[in-house]
Amino acid sequence: MSHPIAEERPVVHGDALNALRAEIAEEPDPSAAAQRAVDMLHDRFGHYDWVGIYWVDGSDLVLGPWVGPQATEHTRIPIGTGVCGAAAASGTTEIVPDVNADPRYLACFASTRSEIVVPIFDGGEVIGEIDIDGSDHDAFDDMDARFLEEVAALVAPLRPRS
Ligand code: SME
Repeated sequence: MSHPIAEERPVVHGDALNALRAEIAEEPDPSAAAQRAVDMLHDRFGHYDWVGIYWVDGSDLVLGPWVGPQATEHTRIPIGTGVCGAAAASGTTEIVPDVNADPRYLACFASTRSEIVVPIFDGGEVIGEIDIDGSDHDAFDDMDARFLEEVAALVAPLRPRS
């Protein structure tokens, strides 16, 4: 796939990536830095209503840092289950414009209308993912995907050591 407009990255995305690099550089504790990352995404982007990072643990995804109006009951998701598990299984970013039309969707919040899930890689291996829920239908586009794929590369080194 070609991205002919990749150089037209919005200023807000470039600014957020710079801020995130600075946050990670100044926070020596990886889990605190990962929390700062989700907080930053939530604070800067109004359509990112709930932001979480899941880390791969064996054949499951386990919820790490998150920020949003409510906790989710889905703190452990088998890889292959839900939109989250699908993205982890395939290593492909998932954009779901209408969660109610996607049979894979695991409901967390009554307010959620759309979702984006972006895998986090270490080398070629999926080690986690960024999961964002939106309260608007069709809240996420390819620009969000490319931005969050860059965020995913920055947070990959923050994976907890088991
Ligand atoms: N909706 C996700 C589950 C995680 S919650 O959105 C936080 C899914 O379908 O996998």
